[in-house]
Order: sequence, then structure tokens, then C-alpha cells
Amino acid sequence: MKITSAEFVKSAVDPSQCPKDGLPEIVLIGRSNVGKSSLINAFVNRKGLAKTSSQPGKTRTINFYLINNRFYLVDLPGFGYSNVPLSVKKSWEKMIEDYFECRDTLQGAFVILDPRRDAGDVEERLYRWIEAFGIPAVTVFTKTDKLSNNRLSARIAAIKKAIPVVEPVLFSAVTGQGKVLLGKKVAEVLEVKAPPANENA
Ligand code: GTP
Ligand code: MG
Repeated sequence: MKITSAEFVKSAVDPSQCPKDGLPEIVLIGRSNVGKSSLINAFVNRKGLAKTSSQPGKTRTINFYLINNRFYLVDLPGFGYSNVPLSVKKSWEKMIEDYFECRDTLQGAFVILDPRRDAGDVEERLYRWIEAFGIPAVTVFTKTDKLSNNRLSARIAAIKKAIPVVEPVLFSAVTGQGKVLLGKKVAEVLEVKAPPANENA
């Protein structure tokens, strides 16, 4: 997928603030600090478009990035970040739940995982949730530059025992690994619900 434009459009904290133009969207979801915002920047070749930080909990709102004037990549706050008050955590969870429930335009969820961390109940629930929502889940293992190929394969094999990982994208925002495959997955997901091109031909 060739990226011709990428712009930040808006931040939302509840569904009424989400874009209403009906363009399809793909959401990035994963633990805090896993590299969701960095993945957006690397994917669209725009350092600093999405704010990143070495401290978990950087993204605190639902952020919409319009790509190629055609679809949105949606950056969510990370879950599993323990260093915030419970009340704040609850409000983020509610924000994310409300988002999922009301976005008819949502066509796919990219689950971003750090291969160095085990996947647990939270991730398992997340996959079930996405499945129940009726949209495809694409798994992306990021920060692959931090592991040798052997170690990476072993970690992915271990994680596959806990969650349904199919044809994962191996990605690194540092080396650019996986950008082409990620683009293919984005294109595939966007095609799923699109009406047939020549329905009446
Ligand atoms: P929250 O907004 O807190 O949920 O985090 P996030 O998932 O958006 O993570 P973010 O993109 O802010 O990245 C977190 C840290 O990981 C930053 O210090 C990034 O520089 C680093 N990082 C992200 N992707 C990669 C990667 O592919 N390789 C390496 N080595 N570091 C990465
Ligand atoms: Mg972020």
C-alpha cells in the first residue's frame, strides 16, 4: 500500500466526538508501551505524527489518523497500564468499550503484541471480543529488532498456545521490518466489507 497522505484529524473521549464521515477505520489495540503509536508513524513514514513515549500511558484519548484520504487508523490508549488511579483506568476502559460498540465503520482490529511478553487472559478476552464484534483480528508482533530470529520464533510459538494467532505480521518501527506486509493486511481488511466494484456490470 502506497501512503500518499497521513494526517491527524481528531482526538475523542466519547463516541459523539468520533468522525462522522463514514470512512472505514482500523483500530490498533494492545498494552501500554507496546508500540502502537510508533507503528503508525513508521507505517506512514511520519516521525512524530502520533506522540510516543518510553513511559507507558502516553496515548490517553482515541486518536484518528486519516490515511490517503480513504480510511482511518485509530490509535487507542494502551490497556494494562497499572500506574494510573483506578478511576482513570475505568474511564479509559469505558471509553474503549463505547468506541467498539458504536463504530459501524470499524472494519478490523490490529492487535499489537510485544513478543517478549506472554499473552494472558486479557489478550485472550480481547480476541474473543473482536470476534464477537464480527471484524477480522490481525496480530502484529512489534519491536522485533529487540530479539534474534531464533528467540522470536520461540516466543511466537509460546504465545500461540494462549491466543489465536494466524499469519502474524512481524514488525519493527526501528528497522522498518513488516511495513509492506502490514500494508497488505490493511488493504485486505479494507476490502472485506467494500461493495463489489461492478455490482451491476
Ligand atoms: P501507549 O500510548 O502508552 O499505550 O504506548 P504505545 O503502545 O503507543 O507505545 P509507543 O509507540 O509510545 O512506544 C513505546 C516505547 O517503545 C517508545 O520508547 C518507543 O520508542 C519504543 N518502540 C516502539 N516501537 C518500537 C520498535 O519497533 N522497536 C524498538 N526498539 N522500540 C520501539
Ligand atoms: Mg500510544
